[in-house]
Amino acid sequence: MDTVVKKPAAPGGDSALERIQHAGLRGKVMSADEAAALIRPGFNVGMSGFTGAGYPKAVPQALARRIETAHAAGEPFRIGLWTGASTAPELDGALAKVEGVDMRLPYQSDPTTRARINSGQMQYVDMHLSHVGQFVWFGFLGHLNVAVIEVVGVLPDGRLIPTTSVGNNKTWIDQADHVILEVNRWQNPALEGMHDIYYGTRLPPYRQPIPMTGPGDRIGEPYLRCDPDKVIAVVLTDAPDRNSPFTPPDENSRRIAGHIIDFLQHEVKMGRLPKNLLPLQSGVGNIANAVLDGLNQSPFEGMTAYTEVLQDGMLEMLKSGKLSFASSTALSLSPEATEYFNAHIDELKPRILLRPQEISNHPELIRRMGLIAMNALIEADIYGNVNSTHLMGSAIMNGIGGSGDFARNAYLSIFMTPSVAKGGSISCIVPMVSHIDHTEHDVQVIVTEQGLADLRGLAPVQRARRVIDQCAHPDYRDALRDYLARAQAGAIGQHTPHLLTEALSWHQRYVQTGHMRNQ
Ligand code: COA
Repeated sequence: MDTVVKKPAAPGGDSALERIQHAGLRGKVMSADEAAALIRPGFNVGMSGFTGAGYPKAVPQALARRIETAHAAGEPFRIGLWTGASTAPELDGALAKVEGVDMRLPYQSDPTTRARINSGQMQYVDMHLSHVGQFVWFGFLGHLNVAVIEVVGVLPDGRLIPTTSVGNNKTWIDQADHVILEVNRWQNPALEGMHDIYYGTRLPPYRQPIPMTGPGDRIGEPYLRCDPDKVIAVVLTDAPDRNSPFTPPDENSRRIAGHIIDFLQHEVKMGRLPKNLLPLQSGVGNIANAVLDGLNQSPFEGMTAYTEVLQDGMLEMLKSGKLSFASSTALSLSPEATEYFNAHIDELKPRILLRPQEISNHPELIRRMGLIAMNALIEADIYGNVNSTHLMGSAIMNGIGGSGDFARNAYLSIFMTPSVAKGGSISCIVPMVSHIDHTEHDVQVIVTEQGLADLRGLAPVQRARRVIDQCAHPDYRDALRDYLARAQAGAIGQHTPHLLTEALSWHQRYVQTGHMRNQ
């Protein structure tokens, strides 16, 4: 899932230096090595970047070289690394490779980082993405020493033009002692004006309602404010964002998409959804992208999106006109989609807004607008608890990302997965999840290629029957029915019957034999 592909250079033609219109900041231009030398061991560093977009590309690699040299000389050198969400090999990968990260937060999807976390060499705080900014403001996460932020350019008064992602940049710039900027010539200058940075957030008890009622409402300003005196280095770069191409929808994804579209049509018919639906949130990964592809082929018109990542599928929907507006915090586009985006940016600009992640994922706004949240999962249990993050209860995959922000507060919270993984040796529907990210209370619909389980208004045993009947793979259905029947006979309570010695035995069997089924 982390294949690295070079994207074509964005149209620009200008030099990165020309993009710095503030005279004082032009005077702070230096090499990435010189900038990295300003980061000291033990610093907490807030870097830009969200789902492979808008992350700094030169300073993290220079820092990794510096850390490697320090380690070779026997000197300890590690940092706390905070971002918006996942980045790319030049950032997460480079720093993890040299064992330069002591503590990482929030979402990551880098294979080297994942390996370090799972071997216990790196601490990882997996947080709701909407919480990160405010936790820093509250002082819950400690002191932020430096922010390293990629930008499109700098205005004469020092304000910054954001890139393909906003993420936590506003918070990092406001909260860090010092700021290092990477001005990336690859980032399209026409992005200017596509951002909406909200500066109205206050801390409790002074918080006020956020003045937004629809995905297209502009409530902030197009630039990041930044005190030029805080900026200690400016580095010029010219490297592309890196994002994986999406795999074309396979038969399973198409079937999952089909079930969701049938369900949404039914909801419209029942008067529970308007004809153009409610604002869509779509999670990361191939299945989510396939569902968007399905929605693009569906009869729905005039849809909107309020989401955290704008992937290829959503761009296709903007292109076809099915989607009239999309609000996000990042563009996470394949190289081909980036090419289209850059070629049509002027037409797309009035229909896209990129916002800070504390706004794109804000519970108040998600609840007010009534989102349809669609996220992928790793496993669900018969009662509808969902694990989005851990393999066999212990090994982190990526992280919770924004799925919790959206699932708990959405109008409709849908989770989707193929019914089996690893060639059928794993059932994604299990008696009890081995790790829990979304409780049964936050999960209304579960969908696999087998079918869709609408769990609204059902009590636990009713939910279990529906999940098994609608979602489980036929190879595992009888074993799940058998488990439920024996749990009903043997559990100490009949509300959510479980056999405690057996509930996680499927996982244990997989760890021991490589298969969840009794062979
Ligand atoms: N047990 C073990 N492995 C499993 C599994 C299970 N129950 N279910 C899936 N997997 C494995 C797959 O085999 C695959 O492994 P591979 O990379 O070695 O091939 C991997 O997990 C990814 O699964 P895939 O089916 O390709 O799904 P995806 O690309 O759609 O990603 C998640 C699924 C859940 C990992 C991903 O959506 C995620 O990280 N979600 C959490 C964050 C989130 O929801 N963010 C959205 C908010 S915007």
